[in-house]
Amino acid sequence: MELEGRTAVITGGASGIGLATARRLAASGMSLVLGDVEAPALESAVAQLRAEGAAVVGRVCDVRHEDDVVALREAALAEFGGAHLVFNNAGVGGGPTVGSPTGVWDWVIDVNLRGVVHGVNAFVPHFVAQGEGHVVSTASAAGLGGVPGMGAYCATKFAVVGLSESLFHELALRAPGVHVSVLCPGFVRTRIAESARNMPAELRVPTEDAFAAGAERVAHEAVASGIDPGEVADAVARAVAEERFWVLTHERLALRTTESRLAWMRGGPPPGFDLLAAARP
Ligand SMILES: NC(=O)c1ccc[n+]([C@@H]2O[C@H](COP(=O)([O-])OP(=O)(O)OC[C@H]3O[C@@H](n4cnc5c(N)ncnc54)[C@H](O)[C@@H]3O)[C@@H](O)[C@H]2O)c1
Repeated sequence: MELEGRTAVITGGASGIGLATARRLAASGMSLVLGDVEAPALESAVAQLRAEGAAVVGRVCDVRHEDDVVALREAALAEFGGAHLVFNNAGVGGGPTVGSPTGVWDWVIDVNLRGVVHGVNAFVPHFVAQGEGHVVSTASAAGLGGVPGMGAYCATKFAVVGLSESLFHELALRAPGVHVSVLCPGFVRTRIAESARNMPAELRVPTEDAFAAGAERVAHEAVASGIDPGEVADAVARAVAEERFWVLTHERLALRTTESRLAWMRGGPPPGFDLLAAARP
């Protein structure tokens, strides 16, 4: 898709991968609507991007609520006269498979999975009607293989991969001008390990589980040694321009994860784990 003169809507646009992608797409001539649940961070992101010359508006949006995501589409149409790309990117980290309270599971599922569902429902009918558009959804390398200590997160990211593959096939049959990509990065230097800042207050209870606390510590270190979000933004922009489904910023990791699952399915040994290796491209 030609980016120049088109409009992109980005959820989780106030930080990390969303903000870096906003900057990258603005440099390619796209107008932007940024949605984020964190009002002060959103305000400052919009101010920074405007100072750099971007045509951008921000809307406070909680992707757990469908109406908030629909409002992003309406803002794109009202402010810029169109919507051509939706980047369903807002996401939060979650806890281990055993021991995460139901409220934490609900929060992670509502943001990471329902948020993407809302983006698809709000934008795809519009793209189909106009005969063009591109949906990019952020999954993770943790959506390609299970990771210890990250069961809730992995469950939602596998779901985003499955949803995106299904959407790809549906649109190929029904609306060939509308494209789909799924972003599956390894670790990226962002604020994802501080996701609890956006957690409902009643769920913010420090864990007493030593395994969960250890997994959290390793995740912090791995994120801190991850790649720059600008690299992810470049990969997203290339995938949209080239209409590529898989966006694998850590290609060796993604392929190794998938190949070792395949070997495991064929009767080989289960994959071993070195979380810090996931920070390397
Ligand atoms: N950083 C990594 O290592 C990594 C790796 C793989 C995938 N991801 C995924 O990348 C995406 C972006 O995360 P990031 O790494 O840039 O982290 P980040 O915390 O820097 O940015 C996430 C943004 O999402 C926003 N957000 C959180 N809950 C929201 C909600 N309910 N509604 C709207 N906005 C909300 C946050 O306020 C924040 O601005 C997430 O989906 C994450 O799961 C990150």
